[in-house]
Amino acid sequence: MIKVKQLDYSYHIGKKGNQTSIPVIKKVSFEVKKGEIVAIVGRSGSGKSTLLNLLSGYISPDSGTIEIFEQNTDGYTEKEWAKFRLDHFGFIFQSYELIPSLTAFENIELPLILKGMKRGERQQSVEAMLKRIGLDQHGFHYPNELSGGQQQRVSIGRALITNPTIILADEPTGSLDSETEQGILDLLQELNEKEGITFLMITHDMEVAKVADRTLALHDGEMEERGVYYETK
Ligand SMILES: Nc1ncnc2c1ncn2[C@@H]1O[C@H](COP(=O)(O)OP(=O)(O)OP(=O)(O)O)[C@@H](O)[C@H]1O
Ligand SMILES: [Mg+2]
Repeated sequence: MIKVKQLDYSYHIGKKGNQTSIPVIKKVSFEVKKGEIVAIVGRSGSGKSTLLNLLSGYISPDSGTIEIFEQNTDGYTEKEWAKFRLDHFGFIFQSYELIPSLTAFENIELPLILKGMKRGERQQSVEAMLKRIGLDQHGFHYPNELSGGQQQRVSIGRALITNPTIILADEPTGSLDSETEQGILDLLQELNEKEGITFLMITHDMEVAKVADRTLALHDGEMEERGVYYETK
């Protein structure tokens, strides 16, 4: 589903003429197959978020290739990436990234509006989603009227509403206490087992890595060769 080969990426800092480049992703190669939960673990600063930004087309690699659904994404324009993301990806972030002025219902509905779905259909689909994530009583709540775990459920609903092929998650439980975290991990695992949703989760939390079929380790921008494919369950 996702095939990454020999990916390199450096940030450039400093003023023009006096720039330093900092290599952050170094010759990274890996694959994510359909129906898998893959965790990428690594210390703070190891390049996890940068890698996710490369995979979602927000930044472009200096060299190497990213193939998604057997398509080489090299040369995609910003507009093509935006459509691609809307059609195929769902995103979950540590800080939920909900829109504070919209209710839980409206936050989940937003991607469907972007996709041009009609109001009646949207209504049905969002109501079903609220049930699925256990928030059918909370559709009219604003994010600041929800607990952290509930907000993360809303963001999972928003990620799932477009029937994405894969969910990319950056520290999905990073802001939650351990009990709430377990509830969210159970939900993600259930979605994977019952509906075959593929997950690529970035984390430095071994609890998250435990639900993964495979764990890849990033060390200072390099995928660890040793133990790259160790089984976690
Ligand atoms: N916009 C930027 N400009 C310059 N350097 C950056 C930029 N963003 C990140 N970096 C550097 O790239 C490295 C990797 O950062 P990244 O955010 O990918 O790490 P991470 O593994 O996601 O860390 P964390 O677990 O803390 O989220 C760090 O050394 C960071 O300082
Ligand atoms: Mg990060």
